[in-house]
Amino acid sequence: MDVMSSSAFTLNNGVEIPAVGFGVFQSAPEETVEAVQTALAAGYRHVDTAAAYFNEKEVGEAIRRSGLARNEVFVETKVWISDYGYEQTLHAFDKSTKKLGVEQLDLLILHQALPDEFALTLDAYRALEKLLADGAVRAIGVSNFMPDHLTRLLAETSVVPAVNQIEVHPYFRQSELLALDAEHGILSQAWSPIGGITFYRDGSHGSTLQDPTIGEIAAAHDRTPAQVMLRWHLQQGRQVIPKSVTPSRISENLDVFGFELTGEQLAAIDALDTGVRGGPEPEQITRETFGREIPEA
Ligand SMILES: NC(=O)c1ccc[n+]([C@@H]2O[C@H](COP(=O)([O-])OP(=O)(O)OC[C@H]3O[C@@H](n4cnc5c(N)ncnc54)[C@H](OP(=O)(O)O)[C@@H]3O)[C@@H](O)[C@H]2O)c1
Repeated sequence: MDVMSSSAFTLNNGVEIPAVGFGVFQSAPEETVEAVQTALAAGYRHVDTAAAYFNEKEVGEAIRRSGLARNEVFVETKVWISDYGYEQTLHAFDKSTKKLGVEQLDLLILHQALPDEFALTLDAYRALEKLLADGAVRAIGVSNFMPDHLTRLLAETSVVPAVNQIEVHPYFRQSELLALDAEHGILSQAWSPIGGITFYRDGSHGSTLQDPTIGEIAAAHDRTPAQVMLRWHLQQGRQVIPKSVTPSRISENLDVFGFELTGEQLAAIDALDTGVRGGPEPEQITRETFGREIPEA
């Protein structure tokens, strides 16, 4: 994709997805309607939510209030692990679409692999394949699938996921996983694209927003650190879903098409990788520790 002139990626089944989407993780239900409305008014055309964010109703409300036609907004949501299993996952689709107030989803993904119950994960994915075949969803995918999970999924199911939504920011790049996604034509969607996970927690590796290397590159382009990080992803072929409930930041994060980082600048950001994950270790996700009931619509 030429990200200077185009603001969309084409998924492996031909469906188009905007290059910059809008994230709503940890947006409280009471702030979500306003944040999503602000984002749609600013020009975003993709919203990434999840059953486990407990704000699908508010996302749906904002889309209706925006006045945009249904087919103008790309709606993505995720099935939580407590709803895995063939029938359960089909029902999870019903719950999410009712809460969102839509009939069809643009993208439905599994939120996590369950490494200790992989057969159940495969059953959930087969339900996504069925929804895709029925036209209930336009594309399907996964999230937080590590190389081993992806390899097992590809060996045992028939539809190659359109996306793998994973933690990627300058302090945690997962380069091998990015290469594996690319090898199979799977679009990597970067979550915490500006490193949100590094500053939600006051952990040891500090904030990407205050990183001196990123700051210098931002100054050289008269841009902000967030814009530089988003540009880094886009130029390397990753879709991004920055989250904000702040109107000025919502606009700032979409205004990333008027400048280009040099190869040297991209490499300097690559070199910031610490190899330290901010989010939970995907290999350790179990229903016992992370299970949460997803209410009916
Ligand atoms: N699949 C998964 O397991 C998974 C996990 C985590 C996230 N996600 C998805 O990825 C999305 C984004 O990830 P994230 O929310 O963790 O992190 P993020 O988008 O990298 O960062 C969000 C944080 O950055 C702040 N912020 C946003 N724009 C900014 C700017 N221009 N300048 C300074 N600060 C800015 C936000 O504050 P304010 O809101 O206060 O402005 C918020 O604290 C989520 O919303 C969700 O959709 C998926």
